[in-house]
Amino acid sequence: ERDLSGKVVVPGLVDMHVHLREPGFEQKEDIASGTRAAAHGGFTAVCAMPNTSPVIDNALGVEYVKARAAAVGKCRVIVAGACSKGLGGDTLADMGDMRAHGAKAFTDDGRGIQDAGMMRRVMDYAKQFDLPVMVHCQDDGLVGEGQVNEGVASTRLGMLGWPAEGEEIEIARDIALCRLTGCALHVQHVTTARGLDLVRAAKAEGLPVTCEVTPHHMFLTEDAIGPDYPTALKVNPPLRTAADAAALIAGVADGTVDAIVTDHAPHTDWEKDREFELAPFGMTGLETSLGLVLTHLVREGVIGYERMVELMAVAPRAILHEEPVTLAAGSVADLTVIDPEAAWTVEAGGFCSKANNSGFVGAELVGRATDTYVGGYATMEDGAIVE
Ligand code: DOR
Ligand code: ZN
Ligand code: ZN
Repeated sequence: ERDLSGKVVVPGLVDMHVHLREPGFEQKEDIASGTRAAAHGGFTAVCAMPNTSPVIDNALGVEYVKARAAAVGKCRVIVAGACSKGLGGDTLADMGDMRAHGAKAFTDDGRGIQDAGMMRRVMDYAKQFDLPVMVHCQDDGLVGEGQVNEGVASTRLGMLGWPAEGEEIEIARDIALCRLTGCALHVQHVTTARGLDLVRAAKAEGLPVTCEVTPHHMFLTEDAIGPDYPTALKVNPPLRTAADAAALIAGVADGTVDAIVTDHAPHTDWEKDREFELAPFGMTGLETSLGLVLTHLVREGVIGYERMVELMAVAPRAILHEEPVTLAAGSVADLTVIDPEAAWTVEAGGFCSKANNSGFVGAELVGRATDTYVGGYATMEDGAIVE
């Protein structure tokens, strides 16, 4: 029996955008360590991206991730299959077969789909299975070798820029293709004010468009990248301007944003411990997301607990066609227990993830998950993972 007085009990949190790296990149993370990090951060389910090696672009790959998650996972793992064989290129993956084996969404996250005709074929195909196409909006022709947001930061740092338009043009294109095909579109990690305006307009039109934002794009900006070139802050899409971050927070408050996700992108110390231009894009997020949201959005009064639950539990489940969780008797018993007053400091040594590439090391937060239950079984109790 746990005494939960003073705690807040909410439906189990779901992070619908996570890179667990298995198979193929287990030096960065694997399903055991990544799902431990998820439980530690208060999540009872994550959606795993397919940019592994091999890419999850067939039914056997979907079965592999499901089997590993069942064997060693500390939370549910929802599998996103790749839209295209190998990610990128112009050969459709067999989304129908992956769907039959349990894939809940399709994406080419990490690469994006460069050709509009290919994107249309993906959406025409995915529509038959009533599953969303999740898109990483990046136009390679504009983005090229861009390292940081194009503008003040790229000039100040003397590095190639990754313009806002490199994201916005793809969002506009994919909304147009959503209108053409009728396929549900989920725009991954929106980072710019105009990108979010495009989503807002699409929703007003009644199109089946949803979108997500990350804590790092809300709570960090390009201004944080100083002359020491911190590679932990190298992320794709890049940290944007303060005005962009404010627009994302406004979108969270006004209902335009459907979900808060981490884009948890673990990398090894040695990969990040080199020149900015050579370091890989990405930062971790599973173990800091809830604390950041509680500290910067809930405590600040930008949103209440109900909206937080909508963004971090209800909407992700709905978009991924997972059974809803309510606190009513007989519901799926996935629960997260939050201590809203726990003050803590993000420390590199304190992660269950194999990776340390958080952009928030040193941040002082208030609020964190203490307990998680998946299907009625404790996966974390009083801050400790249940073995
Ligand atoms: O920063 C990122 N890292 N963005 C992505 O879209 C992919 C991810 C990764 O796989 O490392
Ligand atoms: Zn992405
Ligand atoms: Zn991603």
